[in-house]
Amino acid sequence: MLPVSKAPSIPAADPAGTLHRRPRLLSGMQPTADSLHLGNYLGALRHWVELQEGADATFFVADLHSLTLPQDPETLRERTRRVAAQYLAAGIDPERSTVFVQSHVLEHAQLAWVLQCLTGFGEASRMTQFKDKASRDGDGSGNVGLFAYPVLQAADILVHDPDRVPVGEDQRQHLELTRTLAQRFNHRYGAALSVPEPHIVGGTAKITDLQSPEAKMSKSSASQSGVLHLLDSPKVMAKKVRSAVTDTGREIVHDRATKPGVSNLLDIHSALSGVPVDTLVDRFAGRGYGDLKVEVAEVVTDVLGPVRDRALTLLEDPGALDEMLADGAERARATASAVVARVTQRLGLLPVPGTAAPEASAAPDSVGSAR
Ligand code: TRP
Repeated sequence: MLPVSKAPSIPAADPAGTLHRRPRLLSGMQPTADSLHLGNYLGALRHWVELQEGADATFFVADLHSLTLPQDPETLRERTRRVAAQYLAAGIDPERSTVFVQSHVLEHAQLAWVLQCLTGFGEASRMTQFKDKASRDGDGSGNVGLFAYPVLQAADILVHDPDRVPVGEDQRQHLELTRTLAQRFNHRYGAALSVPEPHIVGGTAKITDLQSPEAKMSKSSASQSGVLHLLDSPKVMAKKVRSAVTDTGREIVHDRATKPGVSNLLDIHSALSGVPVDTLVDRFAGRGYGDLKVEVAEVVTDVLGPVRDRALTLLEDPGALDEMLADGAERARATASAVVARVTQRLGLLPVPGTAAPEASAAPDSVGSAR
């Protein structure tokens, strides 16, 4: 076993100390693959695990978002449970953090409608992820859901009143839209939504595809042989590492421009082992690519093997997993329904019969302030 360090520590989410309570965090992933991959783990999941320590954290499975592409029902059910199981297997603690499935908390869709009515066509058309997806779909079969995707994401966020939203750089624009919509609502109808800060998780090198090391490791790569899945068996993981494309020459150096394959292996090693890349380069001086691959395979299986084992164990008992998710949804609903009640009242929609009108003081301290 190689020594494996924990993820690099992340500064407290509230460095200025302006909050007089634990910061609220929220993030989610779509259930659109049979397994999460190393990029998801390094870029998001393991940061979430760290971040949940000092925070009131909420992590959900964005199943409604996945409907923007056609999904097979049986596969979707399975993938939704798998994402939840991988959250827990990686270290999300469902006692401490709230873990739930998006479609179980109806308030997401409810607030999404309200926000859609505040979003301009032009504004939604400018979302780069939408433009990319729509242009890939040249025959025009894309749906309105794809167009509204960022607005549903804004609703996911705002309905839970988070202070911060840890996401990758690719989600920055969606976070900006979220803030704009919250401010617009508050301006037009009176303060009801807090304006969250993006928390762009950086610091880790971008992990690329083992077979085409110039491209991001992605669930949508044509071939999955360059993608390390959290649920791959150690044997398969080791094989994928051994078959990784390397570069001409034989020297082990880190240079993404001229040696993308070797650099990627060094980055993967370093991200998982905590050993700085420079130290690895020194350590591998005069040795060949084969040696490096053997060690990377070892680091990968040492770290991800136990995550896989825990996930598979959790998936053996879908009933228990569903119970945990039901409990998460109930907790999530407590916040979400209060936010929707505030929004409903501000809008002039009649309160849902049988529910109490929100108290004027129910708005969080931070609402309406520019944070
Ligand atoms: N769009 C995000 C992604 O693809 C997933 C997501 C949906 C999300 N709703 C969210 C992330 C709310 C953070 C907060 O990664």
